[in-house]
This record gives sequence, structure tokens and C-alpha cells, in this order.
Amino acid sequence: DEPAVAQVARIQKIKQQFGADLLIVAHHYQKDEVMQFADARGDSLKLAQIAAANQQAKTIVFCGVHFMAETADILTSDQQQVILPDPMAGCSMADMANSFQLTQAWSLLTSQFDDDILPITYVNSTAAIKSFVGDHGGVVVTSSNAKKIVSWALQRAKRLLFLPDQHLGRNTALALGLTPANIGLWQARANRLQATNPAALRVILWDGYCSVHQQFKVAQIAALRAQYPEIKVIVHPECAHEVVAAADEVGSTAAIIDYVQQAPRGARIAIGTDNNLVGRLIKQYPEKQLMFLNPFSCSCILMNRIDLPHLAWALDQLASGQPGNVITVNPEIASGAKKALDRMLSLS
Ligand code: 13P
Ligand code: SF4
Repeated sequence: DEPAVAQVARIQKIKQQFGADLLIVAHHYQKDEVMQFADARGDSLKLAQIAAANQQAKTIVFCGVHFMAETADILTSDQQQVILPDPMAGCSMADMANSFQLTQAWSLLTSQFDDDILPITYVNSTAAIKSFVGDHGGVVVTSSNAKKIVSWALQRAKRLLFLPDQHLGRNTALALGLTPANIGLWQARANRLQATNPAALRVILWDGYCSVHQQFKVAQIAALRAQYPEIKVIVHPECAHEVVAAADEVGSTAAIIDYVQQAPRGARIAIGTDNNLVGRLIKQYPEKQLMFLNPFSCSCILMNRIDLPHLAWALDQLASGQPGNVITVNPEIASGAKKALDRMLSLS
């Protein structure tokens, strides 16, 4: 019940006290009340690159979701610690693939396809999934580099298993010129491959998805185009392929921000991604006609778990010498995951 102004003052004081020993990073979906304290903000790729490059900060407070904090822990040294202000800030998509399911899928797919298959995981996955992928010669991708890295991987293996986001996987495969016949779906709960012609498969998608980006629909784009014929629509690649096909542009959160920045004054743009980010852009560019593609409940409730009270609590704990919610990945898992992350960083 402490007033926000007192929490703001305490956070500022602790930041000052720790100086360069403390780095607060925030994903673009974070709320303004958290964002105001970020020393750096970014999409998943940029935040991973910042963690890998930073050797100075003893503590990184990660305002984002659990897989991002795990990634930062894996990419930083043993002398650095990563804190997630609320450990309940997960990612429902990352939770759609676990190691048990992946091991089962892998054994069936490698025997069906004579081992000529490479695993690729979206960064929105647990450290254990990244570890399996790294230990099997595979690589991590983010929404910023998926096209480049999947294209690289397709030259190295006849088939790819792409997990957990079927939409990013499908959008990337189709953008690279593959056809629907080249794309199959692994139904994880049924432990079954869905494919019209298994011999033609190049990319097998895990059947995960993002519940936030599922809420963008072709009908919303059609309604806006009917009202504003000049409108441009940009969406995140976690949206279903039919939505991406109906939009004018597709890109990561960083690419969406760049697109809006570069649009001319007065440009009318509808944006299909988390509404904390879209709302911030609308406020930031009043001279452009920016709007939500879907104004209703398209905010990531998991990202939203990080708020001012959780950030203030995390910094209080740090200042008291008893840091809470330190994210530590088991070293065995971290070593496999680091291989997959390092491959991504060198290819980005
Ligand atoms: P970006 O890497 O594009 O920021 O996406 C992260 C994410 O979780 C989108 O839902
Ligand atoms: Fe995960 Fe979707 Fe939230 Fe991104 S928006 S963190 S993919 S649940």
C-alpha cells in the first residue's frame, strides 16, 4: 500500500547507490512505470546481446519474462547475478514445450528421417529446451534473426524441427520460399506428426503459440482497411500466417518501433502486438495516426507481472544484502543452452 512516489524515490536512490554495479534492462512490452528506470531497453535479441557484452554490472535486474532472465544468466559470468523482480512472470508459449516431450518427439522424428534433422528453438523457450537444442547441434533464433538463421540451417540439414512457436516457424519458412507442403506440424500432446507428404517436409513445427498474438485477426485488418483505405498494418511474426499475409509489414518489437519512427508525419498505422508497447508509441508520436489493431485485452499478462512494487521490492532486497528472485540456471543445462545461444549470437 506504499504510495508510488515513495517507491519511485527509493528505486532512484538504490540505483544511484549501486552505480555501474547495477544494470536494469527492460523488454519493450514493459509498463511505463517500470520502463522509466531502464538503463537499456530492447527486443529479445538486443537484450541477449547486452547481457553477453556486459562485464561490469554485478547485478542485472531483468524486467521481462523468465526465459529472458535465464538467457541473461547463461550469457553472463559466474560473478554476475540476474534478478527477475517477479518469478511468476513466465511465458505461456515457452511453457508449451518441455524436455520430456522433446525427447519423445526427437526419438520418433530422427528414426523416421534417418537423423538428417536439426533442432531450432525460438528464444521463447526454457533453458532446458535450449540445452537439448545446443547439445544436438542446433541454434536459438529470435523474431529479429529467424529468417537469416533458418535459412542458414536449411543449408545444413534436410529437415528442421522448429519449436515452440508454430507461427514464427511457419511465417519464416514461407518467407524463405518454402511451400505449405514443405511444412509439417508436430502435435506434442498426441506425440504425432501431421503432414500431407512426409517426404516433402523441410520444417516441422512444434504446435505452440502465443495467446496474446492469437488475438489479432484478418477481420480486424479488413475492417480498418474499409474505414481507412490508406492505412498500413504492421504485426509481430507470432501472429498467424493469414494475419501476417493480410498485413503490410511484419517484424520484431524493435522492427515495429523502427517502422513507426521512420513513417512520415500523419501516417496512419495499425499495430498488432502487445498493447503496452502500442500505447507507448501512440503517446510518443502524437503527430502520427497510430492505433491498436485490436484494442481489447492484447497485453501480455505475464510481462505485466513486473510492476513498480515488484521492482521496488527487488531493489530493496538487493540493497539489504539479501537479493531475492535470483535466476540461476543449473550449470549442466546452461552449458548446452550456451552453445545454442552462442551460435545465434555469432550468426546475428
Ligand atoms: P521480440 O523479440 O520481438 O521483442 O519478441 C518477444 C516476445 O515475447 C514477443 O511476444
Ligand atoms: Fe510469451 Fe506471448 Fe507474452 Fe511474448 S507476448 S512473453 S510470447 S506470452
